[in-house]
Amino acid sequence: MNTTRHFFTGLIRSAALLAMLSATSVHAAEKRDVIIDTDPGADDVVALLLALASPQELNVMAITTVAGNVRIDKTSRNARLAREWAGREEVPVYAGAGKPLVRTPIYAENIHGKEGLPGVEVHEPKKPLAEGNAVQYLVDTLKKAAPHSITIAMLGPQTNLALALIQAPEITQGIKEVVVMGGAHFNGGNITPVAEFNIYADPDAAKVVLASGVKLTYVPLDVTHKILTSEARIKQIDGLNNQAGKLVSGILNEYVKADMVHYGLPGGPVHDASVIAWLIKPELFSGRQVNLVIDNREGVTHGQTIADWYDTLAQNKNVFWVENGDAQGFFDLLTQRLGLLK
Ligand code: BDR
Ligand code: CA
Repeated sequence: MNTTRHFFTGLIRSAALLAMLSATSVHAAEKRDVIIDTDPGADDVVALLLALASPQELNVMAITTVAGNVRIDKTSRNARLAREWAGREEVPVYAGAGKPLVRTPIYAENIHGKEGLPGVEVHEPKKPLAEGNAVQYLVDTLKKAAPHSITIAMLGPQTNLALALIQAPEITQGIKEVVVMGGAHFNGGNITPVAEFNIYADPDAAKVVLASGVKLTYVPLDVTHKILTSEARIKQIDGLNNQAGKLVSGILNEYVKADMVHYGLPGGPVHDASVIAWLIKPELFSGRQVNLVIDNREGVTHGQTIADWYDTLAQNKNVFWVENGDAQGFFDLLTQRLGLLK
């Protein structure tokens, strides 16, 4: 009798565990082929260093750059700097779109500084850009890729992928998943009260990517504003006593200041690095599949992302919306990986 009861209790526990796992979509990381599309940008550089320090989980095939935080020449220079600092100069960097699909470009020099990289000295990296354009690289690579084999980590405005999709819609065949840093629902925006910078900068591009039907994960402000620096966390990175640790502590000390003041937060978010952490250690995060609508109309809701968290409209669930994350787990991962660099 007791044995039967234990058997059923065990069964119920396993079912509950399974239900929990599927609700939060926790899954172990598998090694991925990744293209990182980015507009460095302080947090982009931290994200690039994290990715390039994690070859066991991520095969970074290329870095493609876009205008965003600063102009395209500077985002491309900063991507090459990150590659040099990581000692990964074999990874090609392709420059892409210098402006959004339709809108007038906006930049975020007030947050990222004139060079797009606060708190550190910048220089002209030794290794040049790869020949050819980022958009063409995406088209060529995704066309011939094995079916659904390549992940795209999208750390800036989505202009490059949108242009590639417009030119060759069939490239969706090569895409495994697009993981976007962008959007805000519960948190509110950071460029307007409702819009997040990457989406606001090119909402038309974000709509093209959304409409393409590729598998999409959004890592919005809702989660990045829960993963904040602290003095102790930056000190630990600095205490690694290697070049990467010194660079990242220098960047973060400067970068988080404006957000801390603006939001009255005890630390600052490192947005883009959460996308990479999601790829390496998804079990640090939770979220759910929702319907997402992006507003590209002019007006006060321009660039707003409307995530139907409670399925109120019962529309198709077109993105996985990450809503929560383990802040200490994130900083432990970042610190450990930066410790592997020179
Ligand atoms: C996003 O905007 C940029 O300023 C950051 O690099 C990040 O990608 C945060 O809203
Ligand atoms: Ca960015």
